[in-house]
Formats: sequence, C-alpha cells, structure tokens
Amino acid sequence: MITKPKGTKDIYGIEAKKWQYVSKVIDEVMEKYNYNFIRVPVFEVSELFHRGVGETTDIVTKETYDFIDRGGRNMTLRPEGTAGVVRSFIENKMYGNNDKPAKFYYNMPMYRYERPQAGRLRELTQFGWEIIGSDDPLSDAEAISLAVNIYKILGLKGIKVNINSLGDSESRNNYREALVKHFKPHIDELCEDCRERLEKNPLRIIDCKVDIDKEIMKTAPKTIDYLNEESKNRFEKVKEYLEVMGVEYIVDPSVVRGLDYYNHTVFEVEADIKGFGAQNVIGGGGRYNNMIETLGGPSVPAIGFAAGFDRLMIALDMEDVKLPVKNSIDLFLLYVNEDEKKYAAYLSNELRMNGFIVETDYLNRSLKAQFKQADRLNSKFTIVLNSDDLKNNEVKVKNNITKEEEMISLDALIYYLDENLIDDDVCECDDCTSNIHECNCDNNCSCNNK
Ligand code: HAM
Repeated sequence: MITKPKGTKDIYGIEAKKWQYVSKVIDEVMEKYNYNFIRVPVFEVSELFHRGVGETTDIVTKETYDFIDRGGRNMTLRPEGTAGVVRSFIENKMYGNNDKPAKFYYNMPMYRYERPQAGRLRELTQFGWEIIGSDDPLSDAEAISLAVNIYKILGLKGIKVNINSLGDSESRNNYREALVKHFKPHIDELCEDCRERLEKNPLRIIDCKVDIDKEIMKTAPKTIDYLNEESKNRFEKVKEYLEVMGVEYIVDPSVVRGLDYYNHTVFEVEADIKGFGAQNVIGGGGRYNNMIETLGGPSVPAIGFAAGFDRLMIALDMEDVKLPVKNSIDLFLLYVNEDEKKYAAYLSNELRMNGFIVETDYLNRSLKAQFKQADRLNSKFTIVLNSDDLKNNEVKVKNNITKEEEMISLDALIYYLDENLIDDDVCECDDCTSNIHECNCDNNCSCNNK
C-alpha cells in the first residue's frame, strides 16, 4: 500500500466539511474588512525566500523543500505566504495603484521540512493577510483585531494575544548589541543552535524552546527597554487602538518571531486550552517595513498575519466547538423500475438546477436499501417515484423530520420544497449552534435526535 508522506494529512468526511465551513467564514469576514483574495504559486525561485524570509532563519536554513527543476533552476516550495505576496505586489507594480493600502488575504498550503508531531506538519495550511502600503499604527491594530475576530466568530474562546515591539532599525540594532553583550560570556550555557544564533541572529535566542528556563534567559535584556522614543510612541498608539477595539492583549517581550523580516509590532496568538500541547501558537505576524525594498520594490511599509489552519481545527475540536456544518441532503429520490429511474434522472437534474441538494440510487438497490441510504444521508425529504402517481402528475413527498406524507402535484413540487425546507441545519434555539442531527441541547427544540 502506498501511504501519504510523513507530516501530511488527508482531509475528508466531516473534517472536510468543517474545513470548508471555516474557509467560508474566513472569506466572509475578509470581505467585510475589504481584503482581496490572492493566489500565488506553490513554488517560487529559491532566492525569493532566501532574501525575503532571511538567510539565517530556521525556515530557510533547515526547513525548505528545495529542488532543481528540469531547466536547472533552483526552486522552493513556499514555506510561508508573505514573500510570495510581496513578490507579486512588486512584479505586478501594484504599488502604482491609487487604492492604498493594498489589502490581501490567502488560504493555502505551505511546506516546511520540520519534525512532524501533533500540530506540526510538513504540509501545513495557513490563512493570512497582508496590508501593504500603510505605516499607520491603526493598520497594526486592524491586523491583530481581525485575527481575534475570526477566532471569536468561529466560537473559539481560549485564545491569548501576545504583542511586542522590535522597534525601528536603530532600536533593533541597539537591542541586538545588548543581547550579544549579555549572552557572549555565557556562550557555553547555550544550546548548539543558540551558539550559532549569537552571531547571526541573536534575537532568536529569546524564543528558543530549549534554553527557555535557564537563568541567563530570565535576565536577558528586553526589547521594550531598547525602543527609541519614536518606536515607543508608535507602540503606544497600537495599544491605544487595540483598547478602543476592545482587543485584550498581553505585552510579552519574548515574542520576537522566527522570521528575519520584522520590525516594530510583532504578535502571536496562543491557544490557551488545557492539554493543547507544545504547538500552541495558532498564528503570528508583524510589521515588515523593509521587505518590499529588499526584494527590489519601492520603500513601502507593510504588516500581516498568518494563522495555522490545522492548529485552529485542533483548537476548535479540543474546545468541542460545534460548527454548524451541513450534514444532510434535501431530498432522496427512490425508484423501482426503469421508467421511474429515468424520471429520477430527469427530476434530480431539474431540482439540482433549482438549488436543491438531491441524491438518488446508483446501485440498483432494493427499495428498503434505498430508504436506508436516504437515512444515512440524513435526507430531509424522500420521494418514492411511483409510475401510477407520475401518470397523475403527482408524487408522494415524505418529510423525514415530521414523518408527514403529502401528495404534491409535480408542477408545485419546487414551490412546496422551497416552502418546507429548513434553510440550514442549525438548531432553532438562539443559544445553540449545534447541527440538528447532533443537537443534544436541553431546550425544547425539534431537532432530529430528540
Ligand atoms: P509563522 O509564525 O512562521 O509566520 O507561521 C504562522 C502560523 O502558521 C504559526 O503561528 C502556526 O500556527 C502555523 N504553522 C507554522 N508552521 C507550522 C507547521 N509546521 N505545522 C502546522 N502549523 C504551522 C508566517 O508564516 C508569516 N508569514 C506570518 C506573517 C504574515 N507575517 C507577516 N505577514
């Protein structure tokens, strides 16, 4: 048997329905915030990520899926979305548009050769957004509050927003120097990775998971103390806007982020759920005012965020959030003989083109087995196509929730279904979002399993 590669996932069945529901919510929310969907290639020339994400990052040094194509070019499967979106922004000269800032969002798989574990995949999906062309602290606050709102709308309660500021280049450099000065005398106490980071990328020592509990980490300089006046004021403004928007946050100086491109605001969203495990950062982002210029574009400021789709799904499961996914069909058409089967072919086609979710039998099952199949599919209505009824231009429609049966004229069938079908599968009670087939709420509702 050929099995899937390590660190990848098949998403199917009810899980696939949940993915589709969450994607739909993301699309709807992004529309309200006026972000434009963008699709960029799965692979890009390797140089994009080396220059964009940073030569010294774990992602570029250890985790990229690199390959040489048949034309001898060095290619990389995208490990994240920001660099590709920025490349597209520059290549398509979108900086020349008048509608500034440009606001993009995406929902796509990324590839990182990491050690797989719960919540850590090699093919991971991220949904994220980028606001390119504004340095206003309000855009920082929007990028953060948007994340919080999506989680809130989906019903996820256990989240913690950790924010920090790395400041402008001057502040970042001063901080960098302070870190080197602090850690150099203790180099032997650091893990192997951090010893290397000390020269190349000392900021990353701060979020090292191996050295985290050591004394030298606790006494390490804090970003906030190295912000110059301008950076400090800017960070204050971001916090003010967050407060106006009612976003709860914690200022956490250990948030420095794993990618090189950040300055000023950086933030991470943590799943604050008991037993979630080590991979509890469900999203992260920050400002990257220099990336567009580094990649050959004009000097344009930007901020963005990306959420781990896979980790979000784990969080929703762990909190037992009941997503209102459709787990039923509108109508099952049953038949016995060939003439009735032909009518099923005709009617299913007609009804589907009129917007109904219709199934019929494709296995020449007995009538009893067709009823069972209709039940398995949670069909809201069934129609047994009977030749005699059809001659009279009518069908017997059974409502499988109320168990009532009615003879309906074929001319009135669409109207009848329109009038009698419940639009969605969500429990009718105000405070319950369960699917009617799974609902166990204590209210006096008329869900299926009552
Ligand atoms: P990142 O922190 O590398 O940032 O990834 C964002 C989120 O993707 C993480 O917080 C995590 O939830 C999820 N994630 C990362 N790696 C894995 C993995 N191996 N398996 C499962 N989930 C994973 C970025 O990618 C930046 N591009 C975010 C950004 C956008 N910054 C500015 N704009």
